[in-house]
Amino acid sequence: EKGNYHHFMQKEIFEQPTVVAQTLRSYVRQLERQVALPQIDFDITAIDRITIVACGTSYYAGMVAKYWFEKFARVPVDIDVASEFRYRDPVLPYGGLSLFISQSGETADTLAALRHCREAGQTIAVVVNVPTSSMAREADLLLPTHAGPEIGVASTKAFTCQLAVLAALAAHMAVKKGMMDAAEERQVVDHLLEAPACLNAALDHDEDIKAMAHLIAPARDVLYLGRGPDFPLALEGALKLKEISYIHAEGYASGEMKHGPIALIDDKVPVIVLAPSGPLFEKTVSNMQEVRARGGKIVLISDAEGIAEAGEGCMATIEMPKVHPLIAPLVYAVPVQLLAYHVACVKGTDVDQPRNLAKSVTVE
Ligand code: M6R
Repeated sequence: EKGNYHHFMQKEIFEQPTVVAQTLRSYVRQLERQVALPQIDFDITAIDRITIVACGTSYYAGMVAKYWFEKFARVPVDIDVASEFRYRDPVLPYGGLSLFISQSGETADTLAALRHCREAGQTIAVVVNVPTSSMAREADLLLPTHAGPEIGVASTKAFTCQLAVLAALAAHMAVKKGMMDAAEERQVVDHLLEAPACLNAALDHDEDIKAMAHLIAPARDVLYLGRGPDFPLALEGALKLKEISYIHAEGYASGEMKHGPIALIDDKVPVIVLAPSGPLFEKTVSNMQEVRARGGKIVLISDAEGIAEAGEGCMATIEMPKVHPLIAPLVYAVPVQLLAYHVACVKGTDVDQPRNLAKSVTVE
């Protein structure tokens, strides 16, 4: 049931504080300020390489997680979209860990990749939202997200819950491998537990985003830029906009602009810049200035500090709460989801059932 919402997608966007909190309850011990994972029947300290495979939005969650596994646990990560994975004849060390991420647990390409890895002797970990799904049944380590049923074809709450689980898994691995001490673990847990309130604070800007959607709706092309763990969010923002508003959109790593896509920039191409203030901010802002110097119309998504520093001259700004870099990818998911949603509403498209798309892609 949609309740007071116009669309399931809108309802699911607004459920995120609740379902992320719900998911985190299974992955952290709040009092002890420790990460807590389900029983793991293999030696996680022996894992020295992870292969992540997923599709679409779940793949972008995996891209964010790669930063975390490498930063916290110092474990190298390979990541592929499932449809490419098997055909490149990947090198899979016997006993390696393969991690599959899926809302539905039924995506045909991801499931086929899982079975391929099983045959290659991999340990199979699965982050999945449907606990009765094929992927859930075939996992050695089942890591459920507790997002509840996701009806809108555009994935929203499943994504932020996947990120919550993946951050906890990366921290757990780091602790077990001796790469993270108890004090650092407590900080990670504290930051994760701040996520629901920060998601709420991000949702408070719904009206501002709605008010500026008409600036994006007439565009033929839109670019999204981000850096570091926020680069996958640029990809996710572009995917959301394409899916439900049918506007052509691309996500780029901010630093890649000048290697080609900057040629596209003119005053008709809105450029959405995801730039929380922090260590990567200055670099992203200088990429943003390159766009501005060519007449690009910028929408800056940042916190008050970032907007004060770089907001002048932007077509619009969207203010986010000031958050720790660990949870920025969860929090910055909200404005890109809401922007796609409101642009689609301006255009009058079928938000929950966009053309040509199915909720679960069960053919390869
Ligand atoms: O159920 P899954 O997470 O395996 O689905 C993967 C993709 O099909 C899915 O994320 C798709 O890209 C969404 N429509 C994105 O909004």
